[in-house]
Amino acid sequence: MATVTFDHVTKKYGEVTAVDDLSLEIADAEFMVFVGPSGCGKTTSLRMIAGLEDISAGLLRIGDRIVNDVAPKDRDIAMVFQSYALYPHMTVRDNLAFGLKLRKVPKPEIEKRVSDAAGILDLGKYLDRKPKELSGGQRQRVALGRAIVREPAVFLMDEPLSNLDAKLRVQTRAEILRLHKRLETTMVYVTHDQTEAMTMGTRIAVMSEGRLQQVGPPQELYDFPVNRFVGGFIGSPSMNFVDMTTVPTADGGLTLEAAGISLAVPERLRESLGAGVGHSVIAGFRPEHFAISAEAEPGASFTAIADVVEYLGNEELIHLNVSGRDIVAMLSSEHRIRSGDALALTVPLPKVHLFDSESLLSLTAAAAAAS
Ligand SMILES: Nc1ncnc2c1ncn2[C@@H]1O[C@H](COP(=O)(O)OP(=O)(O)O)[C@@H](O)[C@H]1O
Ligand SMILES: [Mg+2]
Repeated sequence: MATVTFDHVTKKYGEVTAVDDLSLEIADAEFMVFVGPSGCGKTTSLRMIAGLEDISAGLLRIGDRIVNDVAPKDRDIAMVFQSYALYPHMTVRDNLAFGLKLRKVPKPEIEKRVSDAAGILDLGKYLDRKPKELSGGQRQRVALGRAIVREPAVFLMDEPLSNLDAKLRVQTRAEILRLHKRLETTMVYVTHDQTEAMTMGTRIAVMSEGRLQQVGPPQELYDFPVNRFVGGFIGSPSMNFVDMTTVPTADGGLTLEAAGISLAVPERLRESLGAGVGHSVIAGFRPEHFAISAEAEPGASFTAIADVVEYLGNEELIHLNVSGRDIVAMLSSEHRIRSGDALALTVPLPKVHLFDSESLLSLTAAAAAAS
């Protein structure tokens, strides 16, 4: 069973805490993605699984075995790096076989594994070429092949698509997913790109400044980000954040107000907001959740002027001026919105996110979890 378990794992480099008290269970055959901005501790986490970094505190398990002191070569893992690190003077065949030769795997077995991997990755035609005679995408497939022939219990991949152009990235993304389906091996995949994380992960672990923020399936992170960081990091374009203030209404209700924006607070959230006047809350609105008000349900209402309109084809990204505040909305191009248009927009209530302005924790996710 190739589970990978972080149990309160910390990694320090001198004064720098690169990974801070990480606890996470990666299931057998899962495709787990570590995502977060540069420097948040993704590579360090992966290198600790690989055995390339000492662990400062905590326990790391692969299966039932504690591996803190197990050498990399005895961990039954294979790692694919961003730089393919192929041997330039060797053919593709020899690049694929090299690791197995070092491990003294019998020759017929090596030939079989190389031929299988070449089949899976469609590299059969290129086995006698040198890396410099291959495209970037083909080289990356050789790097993947070198990991596959090892038949490891766990694959580790660190930003393996970063050096590929956009189109090839999408293709190779699908190829890696196909590979995962076919091999049914545990994969731990590191990227700074939230789109890659969302499209590939069975589950995603979001990190910031060495700390795990939230772990869950893509849709859960998108629908119920537990804090402001995850809300802003997951989803593209990013969530808009607005500081809003509670204002009691004449009929005993409660609204959240900001210049040009108003939101009637539903009963279930009133308690967590505090009923008083002037309590401040951060509201989060995803660009894709804006609708033209005439057709909309109850929610947050916006009085806005369209500033810049970016045409994307099916949709338009509209930079709104809401009483001097810049807010991005994504609307169907059919509305034919033009710069300068006055707009009344709504974000439906179930799509509104509210965050405590001090702890930055989500009040809406907490309420959803409690109900
Ligand atoms: N060998 C090292 N020595 C000192 N600091 C390091 C070393 N490796 C990484 N760090 C620091 O640890 C933090 C996490 O780095 P890293 O895991 O590479 O982040 P990521 O892969 O998410 O971009 C960063 O602050 C980085 O500067
Ligand atoms: Mg990194």
